[in-house]
This record gives sequence, structure tokens and C-alpha cells, in this order.
Amino acid sequence: MDVLSAASQGPIPYWTVAWPAGLGLARVLAREDLRGMRILEVGAGVGVSGLGAAVGGAEVLVTDNVPAALRVAVMNARRNALHVRAAAADWRHWPFRPDARFDRIIGSDVTYEPAAFDALLTVMQESLKPGGDIWLTDPGRIMTSAFQQRALAEGWCWSTATLPHEGRQAVFLYTFRRRNEKE
Ligand SMILES: C[S@@+](CC[C@H](N)C(=O)[O-])C[C@H]1O[C@@H](n2cnc3c(N)ncnc32)[C@H](O)[C@@H]1O
Repeated sequence: MDVLSAASQGPIPYWTVAWPAGLGLARVLAREDLRGMRILEVGAGVGVSGLGAAVGGAEVLVTDNVPAALRVAVMNARRNALHVRAAAADWRHWPFRPDARFDRIIGSDVTYEPAAFDALLTVMQESLKPGGDIWLTDPGRIMTSAFQQRALAEGWCWSTATLPHEGRQAVFLYTFRRRNEKE
């Protein structure tokens, strides 16, 4: 990241880094039995978490607003003998009709840009099946609590779990559900 931010002109290409929160989420998903589940990954970058879900047996759609990221994600899947589908999709101009077809939505390190929170929450609301859940990870970013407050106002609740460190980075898993579906 130090090299990237010094060398980048324009927006920093965050997608080029496999973030610790993504590695942590991938490890958890890879240990789950996800056969029969349809999973949407938002802000996938190079697709590490989505690949973890594919290891668990899920049918995975990885999305990002940077097409180059998805090309790398698909290449990563091929090299690991996994299958994922990939589609360029920006939360602010979501290209899919609202059809609530995913059992789970996953995303790692995607709650850092407040201007995008409402759009991301709309994608969550429209893409998740009734009874589904959303697994987001991050290293404990301050901005994530602002995202959670927006989510709370939109009818979501969440629980937090601490995952093993990735190198020196802490990783937190936030599991969101619609409040009226809370068990
Ligand atoms: C910090 S990176 C995390 C990448 C990956 N999830 C990981 O953990 O390695 C954030 C990702 O979100 C994507 N992103 C940011 N804003 C987005 C938007 N409005 N729509 C879709 N993707 C977006 C970026 O392109 C980038 O790949």
C-alpha cells in the first residue's frame, strides 16, 4: 500500500491488495459447508473471500466496480481449480434487477467510504433472500461503526466475532440480519 499510494495518480487502486480482512473471511468460509448456497461478494478485489466460499462449495458471484480486479479474481479461481462467476458492478449503479436471490452476501474491507454506504445498503436490501445473512469483515475501522449506524437505521442488526489475526492485523466478522428476522 505504501508503494501504491506513492505511485498512484488518481484514486488509489485498493483492489490490487489482498487485504487481511479478506484472508480472514476466506479462511472461515472455506471451513463451512456451503453446498447449495448462492453467495454474492461485493467489493471483491482479487476475489480472495469469494474463492474461500467456493472452497466451501457455494455458487459464487464475485463483483467489483473495477473490471481488472475481476479478471484477476477469475484467474485466481482457475489457478486454484475453483469456479466463480464474475460481474462488474458498482453499488451506486447496480446493474442487476432487485431479485433477492442470494442466501448470503459477503464483503471484506468494504465499509470505509461513507459516501457509498447508502448504495451498499440498498444492494444488501435488494439482493439478499428473506432469512439470509451478510458477512462483512474489517480490521476494526472507525468508519465501520458509521456504516453500522446507517444499517441500524435501515432495519439491520448485527453480531460481532473476533477472527484470528492475519499477520499483525486484527480481523472482525460482522454478521448482519434484517432486524425483523432476528432469531
Ligand atoms: C479495500 S478493497 C478490499 C478488496 C477485497 N475485498 C479484499 O479484502 O482484499 C475495497 C474494494 O471495494 C471495491 N469498491 C469500492 N467502491 C466500490 C463500489 N462503489 N462498487 C463496487 N466496488 C467498490 C474496490 O474496487 C476494492 O476492490
